[in-house]
Amino acid sequence: MADLSTKYLGLTLRNPIIAGSSGMTNSLKEIVELEKSGVGAVVLKSIFEEQILLEADYRIRQAQTDEMTYADFSETLDYIDLHIKEKELSGYLNLIHSAKNNVDIPIIASINAVTTHEWTSFARTIEEAGADALELNIFVMPFSLEKECADNEKAYYEILKKVKSQVKIPVSVKISPFFSNLGKVIKNLEKFGADGVVLFNRFSNPDIDIENLKVTHADILSHSSDVANTLRWIAIMAKRVKMSLGASTGVHDGATVIKQLLAGADIVQVVSALYEYGPSYVLEMTKFLNDWMERKGFNYVDQFRGKLSQQTSENPDVYERMQFMKYFGDIK
Ligand SMILES: Cc1cc2nc3c(=O)[nH]c(=O)nc-3n(C[C@H](O)[C@H](O)[C@H](O)COP(=O)(O)O)c2cc1C
Repeated sequence: MADLSTKYLGLTLRNPIIAGSSGMTNSLKEIVELEKSGVGAVVLKSIFEEQILLEADYRIRQAQTDEMTYADFSETLDYIDLHIKEKELSGYLNLIHSAKNNVDIPIIASINAVTTHEWTSFARTIEEAGADALELNIFVMPFSLEKECADNEKAYYEILKKVKSQVKIPVSVKISPFFSNLGKVIKNLEKFGADGVVLFNRFSNPDIDIENLKVTHADILSHSSDVANTLRWIAIMAKRVKMSLGASTGVHDGATVIKQLLAGADIVQVVSALYEYGPSYVLEMTKFLNDWMERKGFNYVDQFRGKLSQQTSENPDVYERMQFMKYFGDIK
């Protein structure tokens, strides 16, 4: 049996396969099942500031339809807002608490918010509830035609710095690939105190139903082919940063886990595959990793981690090549 243990954000994991943040990491029952299935750690479903505010907004609108007078309404507004926030948050804190009491694997909390203020206070209480680490899911939609790119990036750094100043537990930042100079942004996140980055978040995307002339959602779950961009950037950033590198998006099987580790990832996060095949699928993935390591004569993960990163592979250009001319020039 090979040693699959790995370090991530300073934590020791029994193996590098983490259940990523999703609806499958939102209850104690599911977390216990994921531990039984062999995951190395769990990232809890994000607590969304947006979701909290939306719920508050919905309840407030409901209150309005109950024919409250404006005076009554405005008096209760603060209470409703505060009460709902506390309720959402206390449910989340209870989940961290009960997960810590019932499983041995690390529990990584996740926050998705849009203002620095909310993030900061949530982060501190989450640490106090016992989370082993915190993943910040940051995405500022870059649709302002007035703002400069640097202004958007600054928002990420400010959020990170503020959270880091409040907590002692390790903090990772889960980002999208949509930056004009992604490598520099990742370097800056490390400079401003990130203990790790997760590349990349995958978003809900729009589609258009041409028969019913409606705007719809594209596939919620990823496909195995979605892995390529993450693989590229893990390989490019491996050995260029000291913080942990987590790979998220398109990890659907054991072979892809190995590819990401060879590219230089410390861990992979799995979500869509768990939805498609169930938590027990992790057992197959870890078995595949173990069998491959035995077959290749690797006793532990650091013997091959990053072996095919851009810095160490014999063919580093492939990670940078984006245009097709060289490859497809001869294809008829
Ligand atoms: C149903 C669903 C819910 C998700 N919820 C969250 C969330 O709350 N926070 C978060 O950071 N990512 C969330 N994600 C994104 C996943 O953590 C992950 O980054 C993405 O699905 C790509 O990984 P995959 O290819 O393994 O699915 C969610 C994904 C799905 C499919």
